[in-house]
Amino acid sequence: MNIKNNLILALDVMNESDAIEICDSIKEYIDTIKIGYPLALAEGLEIINKLKNKFGFKVICDFKVADIDATNSKICDETFKAGADAIICHGFVGEDSVQACLNMANKHGKELFLLTEMSHPGAKMFLQKNADAIAQMGVDMGITNYVAPATRLDRLSEIRNIVGNESYIISPGVGKQGGDGKKTLEYSNAIIVGRSIYESEKPKTACKNLIESLK
Ligand code: XMP
Repeated sequence: MNIKNNLILALDVMNESDAIEICDSIKEYIDTIKIGYPLALAEGLEIINKLKNKFGFKVICDFKVADIDATNSKICDETFKAGADAIICHGFVGEDSVQACLNMANKHGKELFLLTEMSHPGAKMFLQKNADAIAQMGVDMGITNYVAPATRLDRLSEIRNIVGNESYIISPGVGKQGGDGKKTLEYSNAIIVGRSIYESEKPKTACKNLIESLK
């Protein structure tokens, strides 16, 4: 995936008009947005194509798909049919569940991001212990897109070592969760930023300043 300014907006606002207002203000700097459950549940999957059509964005759906294989297939199918360019799935559910997502992404000619270790403190309780194995599973399955945390650079670096330099890593956790964008991009291909942009009084200026800080 080619992502302008290596910056993805996590658009976790709760209605279409706020989404459009934010997108309109940052469209000069950003061409890829991440939509998760907050906006999709509030406005329905139609929001994906509405924003794609209005702004020409690429849309990554952060649905952290984590079910049995048959259900994962259905979730991914519906998401891609709704216009998503990529979907994020959890790895801890194991190879069969992830393979179902990968098969559906391939069927639609779209992309799958495998979530290895999450960025929040709670990830240390269970997920971190298995994150390296999850990343290795992804490599063994031929997956080339990953999500890894901006909040723990040592872990991000380790995951980069496992998935290799050819893989594409996107990293949440910059800004509100404490991660540093420039340092994160030493290991990661793009950062995911939400609240520091959309909660800002001036999202456009917040974007501009953030991009400056990455240089
Ligand atoms: P903030 O507001 O903290 O938003 O800049 C971060 C966004 O990223 C999501 N998030 C994650 N997504 N793996 C993911 O796939 C993670 O480890 C992770 N941590 C945060 C979060 O839901 C929000 O949309």
